[in-house]
Amino acid sequence: MNILKQSSSIWVQELVSNLDIFFDQIEETLSQSSSASYFSPMQQFLFTFLSKVLARADPSLDPKIAESGATMLNKWLAVQLLPTISIGTIQPLEEIFLHSFSYPYALVSGDYNNLYNFIKQHGKEVIKSGIEFGLSEDEAIHNLLFVLGFNSYGGFSIFLPNLINTIANGPAGLQDQLRKEAREKGGSTLGFSSLKEMELINSVVYETLRLNPPVPLQFGRARKDFQLSTYDSAFNVKKGELLCGFQKLVMRDPVVFDEPERFIPDRFTKEKGAELLNYLYWSNGPQSGSPSVSNKQCAGKDIVTYTAALIVAHLLRRYDLIKGDSGSITALQKAK
Ligand code: HEM
Repeated sequence: MNILKQSSSIWVQELVSNLDIFFDQIEETLSQSSSASYFSPMQQFLFTFLSKVLARADPSLDPKIAESGATMLNKWLAVQLLPTISIGTIQPLEEIFLHSFSYPYALVSGDYNNLYNFIKQHGKEVIKSGIEFGLSEDEAIHNLLFVLGFNSYGGFSIFLPNLINTIANGPAGLQDQLRKEAREKGGSTLGFSSLKEMELINSVVYETLRLNPPVPLQFGRARKDFQLSTYDSAFNVKKGELLCGFQKLVMRDPVVFDEPERFIPDRFTKEKGAELLNYLYWSNGPQSGSPSVSNKQCAGKDIVTYTAALIVAHLLRRYDLIKGDSGSITALQKAK
């Protein structure tokens, strides 16, 4: 939380300037081809932006990291996530060959050490504040790398393609409405304060997270006996039992959400929309809640939705029209 507070003054400016580099690249590809795959340049954008705002470390100061930092993170993420995620291979092969053991750290130790040394050398200011909180230098670097690489880069790498797809393929007229709001309510320069006025953009971000929570499964072990109750049932849970929460089910509950399977852009607007934030659980806790040391709710819960809303607003201030899906962009019409 302290890191996020410290970086709030540079967050929007870094976001916008790195987004512009990303979209310049996409435009360049589209000038030569009818479709631009964006996953790799998007990850490059995320890596540079997040390194700068979270670690205050500029990848361009280290040529090896500037060139391959995102790939190094991807490999490190892959060995951690492969044992837990489905890649759609035929069962039981996936269980036997991918989900039955953890992968040796040796596979990625070289990449991890490169990233570690990059943070150690260029992230001194943030490491220092970790030390002030009682961490050793080594602990501060590992923690910083985890928040940067796993929580932030990993989370946004899943979320952003869904968000771009939502904007590019939303219901008829959605881009017109979002564009109007982004241009009329965003002021001369986008900032956190302009987000308060952008009700529809915020709602679209929430609705995307409701239908496609980037981290859909949560696990936890009961710390004591308790009763888990819903509006129609109650379960007795014993201390030590393993619990699993599946957000995709929770956030499509027909008792809470009207037409739960449908993407409704303005679902989270007005008074009723504000009430529904109590049931938006993508961050492992309600959107109306606050992360604390005891609840394991995402510490980046607010900055994630602010950042996503700023991305949507910037996109629709830069372009009159966007076409594409969750993997590629097929048309970008610059704002007149
Ligand atoms: C789209 C991006 C993100 C998504 C989808 C996401 C989602 C989540 C989820 C679901 C959890 C709970 C994990 C569990 O315990 O099972 C979590 C935890 C956490 N997130 Fe995020 N997150 C994102 C970005 C961020 C950012 C930007 C930060 C900070 C800069 C952050 C910091 C954390 C931390 C520190 C935890 C651990 C909290 C704890 O265990 O006490 N996350 N995140």
